[in-house]
Amino acid sequence: MPTRRIAWTNPLRNPLDKRLPRIAGPAGMVLFGVTGDLARKKILPAIYDLANRGLLPAGFTLVGFGRREWSKEDFQDYVRKAVEERARTTWNEHVWERLAEGLNFVTGNFDDDAAFDAMAQTLSELDATRGTGGNWAFYLSIPPESFADVCHQLDRTGMAEAKGESWRRVVIEKPFGHDQESARELNAIVNAVFPEDDVFRIDHYLGKETVQNILALRFANQLFDPMLNSHYVDHVQITMAEDIGLGGRAGYYDGIGAARDVIQNHLLQLLALVAMDEPFSFSPRDMQDEKVKVLRAVKPVEPFELTTARGQYTAGWQGSEKVVGLREEEGFDAESRTETYAACTVEITSRRWAGVPFYLRTGKRLGRRVTEIAIVYKDAPHQPFTRGEIGSLGQNAMVIRVQPDEGMLMRFGSKVPGSTMEVRDVNMDFSYAEAFTEQSPEAYERLILDALLDEASLFPTNEEVELSWEILDPILAHWAENGRPDEYPAGSWGPPSADAMLARDGRTWRRP
Ligand code: BG6
Repeated sequence: MPTRRIAWTNPLRNPLDKRLPRIAGPAGMVLFGVTGDLARKKILPAIYDLANRGLLPAGFTLVGFGRREWSKEDFQDYVRKAVEERARTTWNEHVWERLAEGLNFVTGNFDDDAAFDAMAQTLSELDATRGTGGNWAFYLSIPPESFADVCHQLDRTGMAEAKGESWRRVVIEKPFGHDQESARELNAIVNAVFPEDDVFRIDHYLGKETVQNILALRFANQLFDPMLNSHYVDHVQITMAEDIGLGGRAGYYDGIGAARDVIQNHLLQLLALVAMDEPFSFSPRDMQDEKVKVLRAVKPVEPFELTTARGQYTAGWQGSEKVVGLREEEGFDAESRTETYAACTVEITSRRWAGVPFYLRTGKRLGRRVTEIAIVYKDAPHQPFTRGEIGSLGQNAMVIRVQPDEGMLMRFGSKVPGSTMEVRDVNMDFSYAEAFTEQSPEAYERLILDALLDEASLFPTNEEVELSWEILDPILAHWAENGRPDEYPAGSWGPPSADAMLARDGRTWRRP
């Protein structure tokens, strides 16, 4: 299916070019799901941070929609609290006052015609009073079951339709379905109302600076990319480890599990960025073409009982804190089969990557929070050194640290000082914090700004989403038919089956 428009030729509008301040033009946003966790913790603070950085238009307007009987002032108080708690940038009363003037609230349910009629009326009034120019982004931070109702209402009331030079866009939060079929259905629902060019699916990992830096490392330098292929690379490990548990998130997470929650989106997007060929340009169309090409070639490796692993955390120690197991967390029960750890092996059937396994793993309540991509190189084809001399030499590696301690590490062998020849592993470390004085913006700041600017390079298309499910679906089906996840104690690095999965290939996981 064709994806984004091609009309992106002006190099000064390169969405990855941050040298020029990119300021959104006249626009407003309608936020569905304002009282949800994500809105409170990420979306609303990011909007304030953008305003504080001077990147939103003067008349920026935010309309909240929800069931609460809130006045404009109630909504202002709610947003202020969220901003005070979570904003990245410092408090600026003047910025806040300007932002607060543009806050409005409409009460209603998603199937409530009268509420959506009132919303349509509110938007026209705001266009007249706030100079939003008829440009509206509808941000759906709501469960996918409600997409159909909201899209139908936006269609019915004419709100989805842009008039004249103005625009209407929809921004959608994951999960985009729970398998390929449901993702297709959701995409069909959304695309029936909004053309694909106007759909912005959020994968917040793509908004992270370190993830965008994968493109810079690979395509701005000569040093790394020539060695990213099966001639040199032994295997790749992509790890997203979290130390947090799932207390309070049962409503979303139970029955979803780690693979659907983050492998389908964040980890496969990281894989795509590391493994794709150089895009012709960084336009949405060219980026997505390359990502789709590589995702099409990704195949899960079988047999799944040996090439995948899943686990559920039990009680344990997280540092000095004693924590409960998943089945004791509020909202989960003793029968829950939801995996909190997931690992799988995939291969990429292309000339560049044939024979190089990509191991993906993620888990909650692991030893520590770290997301990294480790590219582990083959041994040198010939060693002029004796076994003894290189006895403590491991495999060379390039590790892209997405978070925390953002940066990159190269591991290679070096002579140990002394009168004998002994080669040992050393690390060469690049750290963002040391190299740059600028603080990284939050992923949500970047993505909300991009959506307002119609810069779609960092948003997965319907095709990418459906292809990611195609990769994961057979593994999920295998797990569904094969009993419970293994157990692992909180604070450990996952179930023994995850270690066995690599041991079978004669490899071990990196201990980040
Ligand atoms: C979200 C997942 O997409 O990413 C969460 O739903 C996870 O389960 C979160 O905790 C992690 O995001 P980050 O930016 O803290 O790595």
